[in-house]
Amino acid sequence: MKENLISRRANSVGRTKIRKMYELEKTLDNVISFTVGEPDFHTPENVVKACEKALAEHKTGYAANQGVLELRRAISDTIFKTHGVRYNPETEILITAGGMNALRAASEALINPDDEVIVPDPYWCNHFHHPLMELGKAVCVPVSEETNFMYDPDVLPKYITDKTKTIILNSPSNPTGRVMDEDTMRRLCEVCKEHDVILISDEVYDHIIYDDIKFCSPVMFDGMRERTVICNSFSKSYAMTGWRIGYAAGLEEIINAMLRINENTLASPTTFAQYAAVEALLGPQDEAKAMVKSFERRRDIMVEEINKIPMLSCPKLQGAFYAFVDIRGTGLSDDEFCERLLLEKRVSVTPGSGFGTNGAGHVRMSYALSEKDLLEGLSRIREFVNSL
Ligand SMILES: Cc1ncc(COP(=O)(O)O)c(C=O)c1O
Repeated sequence: MKENLISRRANSVGRTKIRKMYELEKTLDNVISFTVGEPDFHTPENVVKACEKALAEHKTGYAANQGVLELRRAISDTIFKTHGVRYNPETEILITAGGMNALRAASEALINPDDEVIVPDPYWCNHFHHPLMELGKAVCVPVSEETNFMYDPDVLPKYITDKTKTIILNSPSNPTGRVMDEDTMRRLCEVCKEHDVILISDEVYDHIIYDDIKFCSPVMFDGMRERTVICNSFSKSYAMTGWRIGYAAGLEEIINAMLRINENTLASPTTFAQYAAVEALLGPQDEAKAMVKSFERRRDIMVEEINKIPMLSCPKLQGAFYAFVDIRGTGLSDDEFCERLLLEKRVSVTPGSGFGTNGAGHVRMSYALSEKDLLEGLSRIREFVNSL
């Protein structure tokens, strides 16, 4: 067999610590899992019915490579309602196979190998891995509790060079559960305009936001529509992770480049799933809203209970369904903490260092699990910490 059988691209990425913990926990019994970021709810019934109808009507052939026009129109209207910005469904919206495909196609469309991509650290793994996969160079900007785990627009310019092409923004954030406030967003947009960089705005958690905090997108600010690519998905907002439907919205030139990339790899996602996604946007929103209410209740439990445990802290959580818990007080490394917690108490959480060097000393806990399991898991964590 050839020595260099596997490409440098594939060898530049490993498995994530999320998947490693997930696979380890599957080898054990009675585990309470806080690892995978997936709503524990079913897809709303009206969406399932719309899919059945599309199948019965034989909507089973290829869709247009840009995606079903009806869905692009529904997305255009939705973005207009939520962001106050209009995208032309004919030319400025692309339907993708989930948010991941939107992000990847955006990077492939924009980034050359010598370009730099700014990524927050801690980051969501794919944001960091895409540039690593021979697309460009990832430049990590450390973020911390001090700035609500968001970029500090006063510090960001230090990391921008002539080669900086894009900045990855993810608010609400995975893994930290924080949301960028309006003032910081405004200042971040000024930096992007001043330094002529493109923002890739990963908005997959835009519906999952608490305490009446208003979702804020860069495109809401002057001059940003032309330098932002919105990447979004139905996975989290409508409990549709397995349907693999997402989208990108941006300038025609960029969307067209992304379409050319996808035309050669994916064509378009599953046609009948796209018709179901139309119903997700235009049909009743009660189930999706009830899901967010449940996440909010669990968020309250998380923050209250974690902060009662000595040596752990998690001051606030504003969106998505992740807690990024500071475990430095225990004296254990995050890898040790996770391994011992799983083996000794059968509770699975992800080491923060899996989300970047700056995530070390933390663990990520996805609270997309029932309140009963959540309380049981937290009680086992308390026992574990007390036993140290
Ligand atoms: C921040 C973020 N962006 C994008 C995605 C991709 O979601 P999907 O491809 O399922 O739509 C995820 C999934 O975990 C995520 O956490």
